[in-house]
Amino acid sequence: MKPTLIGACCAIALLATGAAALAQAQDPNAARSLAATCFTCHGSDGRSVGGVPPSLAGRDKAELLQTMKDFKDGKRPATIMHQHAKGYSDQQLEQIAGYFAAVKPGPAAPAPAARSGN
Ligand code: HEC
Repeated sequence: MKPTLIGACCAIALLATGAAALAQAQDPNAARSLAATCFTCHGSDGRSVGGVPPSLAGRDKAELLQTMKDFKDGKRPATIMHQHAKGYSDQQLEQIAGYFAAVKPGPAAPAPAARSGN
């Protein structure tokens, strides 16, 4: 009886750990939280006003990821993006690229920094 009980407890503990890991991996807000740091300049959800800096919404994931890696490595010329790209791991950059690729391009929402009237 005892070994079975211990076995059942272990199975439940393993299941709980697995479920927590799965929930974390599938948290849709995790990618958005990372991507939100880009909204200030690239517009809400990556839809920039007048294309400056360029919109990120709906762009190809692989292209966005490669661009960010090139900024990180200093291979691509930039004023600000070198510093910005260096703040993220490659895994985080992949999450960010995936987030913007999944956003439908749409009407530009003014970037917080571009809003006036305050
Ligand atoms: C402080 C403003 C600012 C922030 C924040 C910012 N960017 Fe940028 N981004 C720029 C500017 C300016 C450029 C043009 C290149 C340069 O001068 O650095 C650019 C260029 C880019 C490009 C190249 C676009 C193209 O078509 O050439 C990509 C991709 C990009 N940014 C992604 C991101 C991502 C992803 C984030 C968030 C992790 C981010 N940016 C945050 C200002 C910003």
